[in-house]
Formats: sequence, structure tokens, C-alpha cells
Amino acid sequence: MSRSSAPIGVFDSGLGGLSVLRALRARMPDESFVYLGDSVFCPYGDKDDATIDERVHLLVADLFERDCKAAVIACNTACAVAIGSLRKRHAAPIIGLEPAVKPAARRSKSRKVAVLATPRTARGETLHQLIETHGAGVTVESIAAPGLVDLIESGSVDGREIRSLLSTLLEGPLARGCDVVVLGCTHYPFLAGAIAEIVGPSVAIVSSGNAVAIQTERVLRREGLRATSSSAGDCRYLTSGE
Ligand code: DGL
Repeated sequence: MSRSSAPIGVFDSGLGGLSVLRALRARMPDESFVYLGDSVFCPYGDKDDATIDERVHLLVADLFERDCKAAVIACNTACAVAIGSLRKRHAAPIIGLEPAVKPAARRSKSRKVAVLATPRTARGETLHQLIETHGAGVTVESIAAPGLVDLIESGSVDGREIRSLLSTLLEGPLARGCDVVVLGCTHYPFLAGAIAEIVGPSVAIVSSGNAVAIQTERVLRREGLRATSSSAGDCRYLTSGE
């Protein structure tokens, strides 16, 4: 089997990376994928860096043992902690993601942006660097959202509890005039409907899925790894949990 027909591994702490997988499959329907969620250790966002690093390395190594030609780390938290060390360890292409601060800052008319993220991403150096690099003249508020990922993992994306949590988190930034909300965690696109209802039509919601899909395709082409078959690719779903 040629390398280009091998699958692309997609990794997240749990279900969140499925929002990225959706964008990847829409852009590259001819590619095959292996999705791996670390449901046993989810959520990562409130764990310490050593624990996250160990889990990410273990599970991404598992994807490469399953013959993946590349890996997409579809988790902002995992990327903030481990993307550099993963790239040092594996020769195959590893595509990461980060909160979409740059497009959000460009898009904001009020020059006020809110980034909704896990506690680890919200307090991390990656986000601070992004804000410093792309947020000139824009006030970027990072909002740590403990508890959201657990609710999504339990299957709740639209219930009363999640709406009340979102309203509380977004109340301050909205009152301060923020007109773009960045979904800084790959789980959050599943809340896009509930968030849109809370923030109203004048506030834009941006996520990273499409940008990651474009970047993944670009990297695969550059490395000569893009699938050549015109038939539809398949997708396997794996979890460290049940
Ligand atoms: N979906 C992940 C992210 O983008 C991780 C969420 C978590 O496990 O806390 O950060």
C-alpha cells in the first residue's frame, strides 16, 4: 500500500475533535481517517501539563502504530502542551490548531473579541502569544469555561444547564461590546446553536475547523501524501473509554 492511501489520524481528548473531523471529511472526502478520543482522561483542560503530555504522546503514538500517514491534533489544549514535543518525536506530519484569534481580530468592528476556552488554554502561553501577535488594537478577553466539556461529553449540547452556564460566561464580554466569540476548544462548535441564540445575530462565532482542514490538505500535498484515489475514504472511530 502506498503511503498516500494510508489514513489520517485525528486525535482529541474526547468528542470535540469530531467537529474538526467533519471539516476534514468535507474538504477531503477521498481521504480515510482514524479518529481517536481519549475519553477516559477527558477533560484535559483542568489537568496538569505532565498528565496531558503523557496521554497525548501515548495516544498519538498509537495512531502512528495504526499506520496513519499524518496526525491532526484536534485539541487546543493538547496542542498548547505537546505539539512541539510531538513534532520532535515523530517524522510524519503533525498538524495542530490554535484558537482563531487572528481572523476574529480582523473581523471585529467593535475591536472587542472574546475567546471561550478550557482553563488550560485560557491561561496558557499559546493564547497569550496569539493575542500579542494578532490582537493589536483589539481587546481580547479569554474566558475559562470549566465544566462545559464535561456537559458536552455527557451528550448535553442544548440543555438548560449548558445555556445557563454559557449565559453566565458570555454576559460580561457581551456587556463590554464584544462582537466576535472565538470557540477556543474543539468541543464548543457543538454548542454553536445555543451560543448563537445567546449572543444574537450581531455577534460572529468563529472556530478553527475549516482552517485546519485547509492546512492539512496543504501539508499532505507538500509531502506527496494526498490520497490519489477518487473513491470515498472511510473512517474508523476509536476511544480509550467505552
Ligand atoms: N477539545 C479540546 C480542546 O480543544 C479539549 C477539551 C478538554 O479535554 O478539556 O481544547
